[in-house]
Amino acid sequence: MADSGIENLLHEDRLFPPSEEFAAQATAQAALYDEGEADFVAYWKRQALERITWYKEPTEGLDDSNAPFYKWFADGELNVTFNCIDRHLEKGGDKVAFHWVGEPGDTRTITYRELYEDVNRLANGLRSLGIEKGDRVAIYMGMVPELAVAMLACARIGAVHSVIFGGFSAESIIDRVEDMKSKLLITCDGAWRRGSVVPLKENCDIAMESTPSVEHCVVYKRTNQAVSMTEGRDIWWHDLVAGESSECEPEVMGAEDLLYVLYTSGTTAKPKGIMHTTAGYLTGVATTHALVFDIKSETDVYWCAADIGWVTGHSYIVYGPLANHTTSVIYEGTPDYPEKDRLWSIIEEYGVTILYTAPTAIRAFMKWGVEYPERHDLTSLRLLGSVGEPINPEAWIWYHENIGGTVCPIVDTWWQTETGSIMISPLPGVTTTKPGSATKAIPGITAAVVNEEGEPVDPGSGGFLTITEPWPAMLRSIYGDDERYVETYWSQHAGLYWAGDGAKLDEDNYLWILGRIDDVMNIAGHRISTMEVESALVSHAAVAEAAVVGATDDLTGQAIVSFVTLRSGVDESDELNDELRKHVATKIGPIARPKSIIFTPDLPKTRSGKIMRRLLRDICDNRSLGDITTLADADVVATITAQQAEARRSDEE
Ligand code: WT7
Repeated sequence: MADSGIENLLHEDRLFPPSEEFAAQATAQAALYDEGEADFVAYWKRQALERITWYKEPTEGLDDSNAPFYKWFADGELNVTFNCIDRHLEKGGDKVAFHWVGEPGDTRTITYRELYEDVNRLANGLRSLGIEKGDRVAIYMGMVPELAVAMLACARIGAVHSVIFGGFSAESIIDRVEDMKSKLLITCDGAWRRGSVVPLKENCDIAMESTPSVEHCVVYKRTNQAVSMTEGRDIWWHDLVAGESSECEPEVMGAEDLLYVLYTSGTTAKPKGIMHTTAGYLTGVATTHALVFDIKSETDVYWCAADIGWVTGHSYIVYGPLANHTTSVIYEGTPDYPEKDRLWSIIEEYGVTILYTAPTAIRAFMKWGVEYPERHDLTSLRLLGSVGEPINPEAWIWYHENIGGTVCPIVDTWWQTETGSIMISPLPGVTTTKPGSATKAIPGITAAVVNEEGEPVDPGSGGFLTITEPWPAMLRSIYGDDERYVETYWSQHAGLYWAGDGAKLDEDNYLWILGRIDDVMNIAGHRISTMEVESALVSHAAVAEAAVVGATDDLTGQAIVSFVTLRSGVDESDELNDELRKHVATKIGPIARPKSIIFTPDLPKTRSGKIMRRLLRDICDNRSLGDITTLADADVVATITAQQAEARRSDEE
């Protein structure tokens, strides 16, 4: 269990009590903890009945008769888009759903009524292509409002969407489309990124050579560059929706019908299709979005600066905020384009009140310097959020002082693709925060830090993070692989959900999440499996063997470092080093490009032949090597250590 580094994470003596502005709600929110603790099923059922408009209200709460295949509100009927759009029209159809800011500077404002019409037209268009309830639709787009429209159009007609992050490669599209046998692929001609175009349609064209299940490809025109359109297969979005009615009867969905699948990295090379169903997921995201961000839908301008291609965007750009009739900002591009004050200029322009972003971004802002936020009036902000990786106290304090003007509470939210919604977080107005701690489980959620035997550890100790009771937005399974679902999440300790994170409980029972303890890396808040990168590397003709580790990195939390043994007869060179790094980026996507590759004649293995990743990680982090007596060939370590020192020297030069 990784417990080095705890000391510099812990600042248990620095307390940030609730601010005056929020104090008024403290009593009401504190009561929620009691309610959740007394009966978590009753608590969530109340949330489900109060926050969702049902066609048929559920009588059931939790069905645990076939654990760990839990069901929630199973006899209820609803449609997610009715809840996210239709029911708001009467009260506020003219209210802005999305203030969208394009990277080149173009902007659009989309009201709830316009969203209703756009979603319905596309939903009708999808039906005209033969898409029906239960069909799978893959979506590979940039951050345009139409990405949300595409997801919602699927949900409208009961099709299951699977969003593929626009930074992934053609091969990643193939894996994901093939796994679900998606019938339709929705994409854009291209996406803007730092002033240049990512060729999304071109990647789809390459992918579609190997995805026989895809019958049609719908293409939204964003960047206007030339793309090839295959007759009979490819259709322009604008042609598909032209003439379609802006009314579309929503499909009546069962509470446990599949809403979407989102792939995430696990400990093998094959990504897992995480399954989320209709009512439990919507209950989870609507409740947590309202509570954790203290949403005042009349006045807030909320901005989750994540990408919709990840779960953060699914839950807290699309489904949660829309269910709560919130006005959101969506920004298409990167925070440093055209200048490093882009985020702050958008906050000033739209009067953003709530900002939710990742520690990696915050550390980049710190590095760029306070001059950028100082150029803008950020006083509209009243609440800040953090997600995706542990936030180091330095970054927390910087965020608090320079972005939050020392008055905005910070919610450090721990959750996962699998959990669907926020699990561990302060509630603004109730929780005294400590920089670097996600504090404690929210109402209705029960988290525990346990030891090897699955027993809760004492305050002051570290262990494994688990969730001890089921919750509505939990994953239902892994697409097509129930066995892997049981094995990955429910087999470490009987009855406990295994999060894969290490954590420490402090003397006040606050949780400090320390990061992954499995072979999953967290690079800039994105999960990448060591095995995925290793298998990409060994697919190159020059590579005999590869071992990949996440090394500590000041900016991105972790960075990918690869140790590579070349095939005999292949000479190492800087060109080959570059080529291999590019190769990984082509295979998986630019986010998986190793920061450095170290050539080594051998890899350190235990006597049983397992690569000693911990040792490699320690070497990268420059730690002491600890016990290496199980090494088959101790010389390998000496070689690697020397090469790592060399690589570091040349990095510094
Ligand atoms: C992993 C889940 C949840 C949306 C984004 C990531 C790490 C997430 C925190 C946090 C410390 C965090 C964990 C977790 N993580 N939030 N507040 N503090 N670590 O979703 O890609 O499924 O990754 O991200 O290691 O297991 P994901």
